[in-house]
Amino acid sequence: MIVLSDNNALKQVVDKYRDKKIALVPTMGNLHRGHLSLVDVAREKADLVIVSIYVNPIQFGENEDFTNYPRTLGADSYALCQRDVDFAYTPSTRDLFVDNNLSAAQVNVPALSGILCGKYRPGHFQGVATIVAKFFNLVKPDIAVFGEKDYQQLKVIEQMVRHLRFPIEIIGVATVREEDGLAMSSRNQYLNDAERVVAPELYRELLHIKTAVESGATDFAGLEMKASTQLTEAGFKPDYVSIRHAQTLENPESPRDSLVVLGAAWLGDTRLIDNIAVKTVED
Ligand code: PAF
Repeated sequence: MIVLSDNNALKQVVDKYRDKKIALVPTMGNLHRGHLSLVDVAREKADLVIVSIYVNPIQFGENEDFTNYPRTLGADSYALCQRDVDFAYTPSTRDLFVDNNLSAAQVNVPALSGILCGKYRPGHFQGVATIVAKFFNLVKPDIAVFGEKDYQQLKVIEQMVRHLRFPIEIIGVATVREEDGLAMSSRNQYLNDAERVVAPELYRELLHIKTAVESGATDFAGLEMKASTQLTEAGFKPDYVSIRHAQTLENPESPRDSLVVLGAAWLGDTRLIDNIAVKTVED
């Protein structure tokens, strides 16, 4: 694997392999099995796999964990070599933000960016969409692979690609979970031992809702409230638990809509998110 540490090195590769099918896996590093499953899908579907590693300052709020976000380039490079990745693209902020100006131009997908996590993390999805658009312009991939764990992010990117007419296929990959159901995330390492034991409760509550809806329950508000109460009793501070239309993320108009149940909750100083698809009659 070759590390491309600036845009000149990346451009040489992009120009040289223009006739190859290129897959991009955008990451912020600190790679775990969830990321590696994205890499595996990319490897299957493309001739050339480029993994970007960049902790994106503009998707973190003022009081969030940008400074402390784990940066583990050595271990990440080793893991990517083992996975037969062709290139790791590790740009600096100067490569991505002209004149080091973090706010000169932004990409926004307004319908999806102010709801759910966007309500609690203002500016987050603009930050994600902006950086991913920059990666798409620089890497010019044929396909790009993202985890379903960040479901709202995946929908934002799909809409951005559709409406800005990026000629890129977006592939979502199923969430990888620990044995007890906890979705893999770099932020899980912030949990202390006691919190780690409680953490899978978020997944279990979403699973209860999925099972109830699939068995015919239609009182969505009641299910959401019950799950929030259970989470609070378990020691979480829930931001939301919500049953939404799987594509638009709007409140469903009918229980027959294609649905997803999403949740975000704080456990101590760690914010966990998760989601599960709900099988409905229409699916
Ligand atoms: O999912 C992530 O790791 C990040 O949000 C992404 C897509 C790499 C953009 O910084």
